Amino acid sequence: MQLFKLSATRYSESPEGQDAYIFGIFSDTGVTTDFKTAHPNLSQQIALAMENGEFKAKLNQTLVLYTANCDTAKRYIAVGLGESDKYTSDFLRQVSATAAKKVLDLKLKSFAIQFMGEELLATEDAQVLAEGLVMGSYQFLNYKKSDDEYAGIEDVIVLSNADTSAALNYGMQVAAGIVLARDLGNHPSNIATPTYLADTAEAIAKSGGMNITIYDREDFEKLGFGGIQGVSQGSDVPPKFIILEYMGGGKDAKTLGLVGKGLTFDAGGISIKPSAGMDEMKFDMLGGAAVLGIMSVVAEVKPKLNVIAVVPSTENMLGGEAYKPGDILTAYNGKTIEILNTDAEGRLILADGLSYITDKYELDGLVDFATLTGAVVVALGHRYSGIMTNDQDFADELIEIGKQTQDRVWQMPLDDEYAEDIKSKIADIKNTGAGRTAGTIAAGAFLREFVAEGVPWCHVDIAGSGWLKKGRPYHPEGPTGAGVRLIMELIRSWE
Ligand code: BES
Ligand code: MG
Ligand code: ZN
Repeated sequence: MQLFKLSATRYSESPEGQDAYIFGIFSDTGVTTDFKTAHPNLSQQIALAMENGEFKAKLNQTLVLYTANCDTAKRYIAVGLGESDKYTSDFLRQVSATAAKKVLDLKLKSFAIQFMGEELLATEDAQVLAEGLVMGSYQFLNYKKSDDEYAGIEDVIVLSNADTSAALNYGMQVAAGIVLARDLGNHPSNIATPTYLADTAEAIAKSGGMNITIYDREDFEKLGFGGIQGVSQGSDVPPKFIILEYMGGGKDAKTLGLVGKGLTFDAGGISIKPSAGMDEMKFDMLGGAAVLGIMSVVAEVKPKLNVIAVVPSTENMLGGEAYKPGDILTAYNGKTIEILNTDAEGRLILADGLSYITDKYELDGLVDFATLTGAVVVALGHRYSGIMTNDQDFADELIEIGKQTQDRVWQMPLDDEYAEDIKSKIADIKNTGAGRTAGTIAAGAFLREFVAEGVPWCHVDIAGSGWLKKGRPYHPEGPTGAGVRLIMELIRSWE
């Protein structure tokens, strides 16, 4: 997706010749501005639409208004902001997305936008507005032929008296990372292969001055990556173990570790999945996509700290050499794993990722993202990611940032005794939990075995939050980009 140009202008300098002028209306207190720039009959049109009950200014409701002989814009688009006392910064993300989506539906190229009259947007709102505009107008049309000459939104002007340029720019940078993560998710598994993820990482490394190492199938045995080796055996598509090092902070700065599950297609292996909905398992690399999305923003923003990213990437297939139930694999840290279900493969490739990153680097914190369990979708639906930790303070930090960014995480317990659920009779641990109980936590308890002692770690299960069957204002149906806003804000607070 091509991103539009976003610029800021003072509220008093009314723009000219726009395709649309967008403004907000609260359902109780009305229009947020006296709209000096508007044509006089607009207020009348709004009043009539509200009297008729056609427009109630409910959150994300829109109303298109036309004016004759207006220099500012060919049309005005009112966006409902809901009740004024319920207003939150996420509403701004939503209405910005709704506005951009409306503009896209009308096939317009340019618009001016202001939601809060002349005083706002305050600086922190500007970031949210930029995120909303990009996230709401996201489309993935790479594989669809079209005769349409409309090429999308080109120019957006944000009206405000606050100094918004830097925040708008930062919002665009974060949103670009979300777009990258979503695109990686949307590409089918025959395109977005482990090699494709490695090439993407390569491009990010180049643009951000990062070191990159990519290990191939041939390297797995000598490195002791028994997890990804076992899982990848059933696929002829070459697996990749991707390592990105961003050293932006020098020796004294904090170092953040990121690990993402880059499972480009999960057929389930020999414990094969049912065919209904199996196409959705192209999304099983969204953890890796989030990590690459984050690294692409890091490459742009260049924060003053260090970030190490590891993305183990492979398919989980049923080829002749596929690993089988009953097999025993040995992960990078030497722990042996009895395989009781080849569909619990994500934790196996993450086992190598987590033990490798905590062995090779001194991390101040480590976060992994993975579409790991169907159970988290049952527990939390598609709104919250499930988070588990070995360090409550670190989890609290992320939970708080989740509220702030609305990249939400909800904690599941991970008491030591859950280790009982993954005990194996013949190996150190097994890759399944206690039957159908606490499946998400069993996976978390499994991963904990591969995080070196003393490293503050959070596991984020994005099997639900990572993609949607039904769109919401700033999340069209499909991959959401979950994790990108969360970690970019963590990075900013750590700098
Ligand atoms: N990739 C799946 C988890 C998943 C399910 C992601 C639904 C997105 C939507 C994972 O590899 C898996 O198959 N997990 C199994 C584990 C079980 C066999 C212990 C599951 O959740 O059923
Ligand atoms: Mg699976
Ligand atoms: Zn999977």
